[in-house]
Amino acid sequence: MTTVITFGQQKGGAAKTTSAAVTAYLLSMDQKVLLVDFDPQGNATELITQMPTKEFEGKSVMEAIRKGEAADFVYNVMENFWLLPATDDLSEFASYIYDEAQIPKGKRAKVLQKTLASIMNRFDYIIIDTPPSLGELTVNALATSDYVVVMFEPSKFCYSAIERFLVDTLDIKERANSSLEVAGILPVLLDFRRGDIKDYLELIEEEYPGLMFDTKIKRKAATARLSISGFLNNPELTQAAEPYDLFVEELLERTKRGVGISG
Ligand SMILES: Nc1ncnc2c1ncn2[C@@H]1O[C@H](COP(=O)(O)OP(=O)(O)OP(=O)(O)O)[C@@H](O)[C@H]1O
Ligand SMILES: [Mg+2]
Repeated sequence: MTTVITFGQQKGGAAKTTSAAVTAYLLSMDQKVLLVDFDPQGNATELITQMPTKEFEGKSVMEAIRKGEAADFVYNVMENFWLLPATDDLSEFASYIYDEAQIPKGKRAKVLQKTLASIMNRFDYIIIDTPPSLGELTVNALATSDYVVVMFEPSKFCYSAIERFLVDTLDIKERANSSLEVAGILPVLLDFRRGDIKDYLELIEEEYPGLMFDTKIKRKAATARLSISGFLNNPELTQAAEPYDLFVEELLERTKRGVGISG
């Protein structure tokens, strides 16, 4: 059985990419994992490979979508860890759906799932990184997923974004993917010296009871440096990934017992 988990939030800079990549890495310690970079920014691709995304031109997730088949496009990063890379051309996804391939309305949300179908059971986990918007890319990621982790970085705009993201998630669950569940809301980039952090966390607990992960991800210099030092030959990788150790345990626990979307 493959479990597909999307990391999402339409607010930018909410540690989606960092969280998706570190989670995929930690899961790959004893499971087979595919990380799908489903953001035209290609940040996950750069972060994981430390190569510019143009290195993956002709070998990207958008090429896989055009072919309708991802088998030739997964890139082995390290033992048990594969990446489906993104390049700039992923920004053509919406025009591909509507104009180029003219996908009928009822099938538009399932384009990514169709592309992954033949390789799905090669992996225990598929982790999807999404762009900071609720467009066709995020819709497709959610329509392909069993679970979504909703990111929260402590700001008013990100707090407001949670409700919209959950409403959209429910909409996709209803119209395209009945098995989609919210794994939880993950607070990230926390600096407890800031007085308002506690207030935000209390507000979320009140508003979305039971939905917030017990694990909270604090700001950490080694984690911030990941974008420079990467995952390959990084002597401080264990330290950089450490804030996510308990999160991954909790995620596995939650996805096993199947937390409901309504909390
Ligand atoms: N725990 C952490 N401690 C310190 N810095 C972090 C941590 N997590 C992420 N960052 C940094 O925060 C910034 C935003 O993270 P990231 O790129 O993962 O967010 P994102 O939600 O994917 O952004 P976007 O919306 O642009 O895709 C990056 O510079 C990243 O290195
Ligand atoms: Mg990102």
